[in-house]
Amino acid sequence: MKTAIVSAMHEELGAVLALMPDERRQPVAGRDFYVGHLHGRDVVAVLSRIGKVAAATTATVLIERFGVDRIVFTGVAGGLRHGVERGHVVVADNFLQHDLDATPIFPRYEVPLYGRSRFDTDPALTHRLAGAVRKALPGTTLHRGLIASGDRFVSTTAESRALQLALPDALAVEMEGAAVAQVCHDYGVPFAAVRTISDRADDDATGDFLQFIRDVASRHTAAIVEAFLSA
Ligand code: ADE
Repeated sequence: MKTAIVSAMHEELGAVLALMPDERRQPVAGRDFYVGHLHGRDVVAVLSRIGKVAAATTATVLIERFGVDRIVFTGVAGGLRHGVERGHVVVADNFLQHDLDATPIFPRYEVPLYGRSRFDTDPALTHRLAGAVRKALPGTTLHRGLIASGDRFVSTTAESRALQLALPDALAVEMEGAAVAQVCHDYGVPFAAVRTISDRADDDATGDFLQFIRDVASRHTAAIVEAFLSA
């Protein structure tokens, strides 16, 4: 069983690599894949890179070249729904691309030729990931549900409000998850994703974003990944 740990930010990947005693770097498609062990389990750790296309390429290489059996994504996201606040954690049940619009040929958000707009994560893997979050970060508020992905860093209150109105059940917004979910759907590879909320996707979103990733998100990622692989 080979597990891919895909991180959105350098700081998070660094925290994962610090847990791997024997990783070897293998460059493919301009990306560095780190093959080794974590808690004695076969792991490939890699940066997703930012945006849907970059993340889809990373996921495809993980499956085609490295033969991973499952993909776990860790990163940060902007909180959308009321009550999803900075420092909370969201584990995704499904993903949607909020910037996909092939209307009037296809319904809004629907991925053409798939007949659907939402791609589910794997229920068993997601259950296990949520358990790892509870174990690793006791006392942290954990949400489960829909995450919206798009090729935009949402950093105005106006856009955040528009997304909340259009997608009232979306908990959070980020830039990669729906792409990885679609690739995993295509290949039948189980996928789970966890995001720490770094901002509220509003006019204050860019404030101390990088500081938050260094101080909080990378520690969350390391603790969650360790709990997940030791379970
Ligand atoms: N990742 C973290 N915060 C985000 C935001 N506000 N928009 C898109 N992706 C994000």
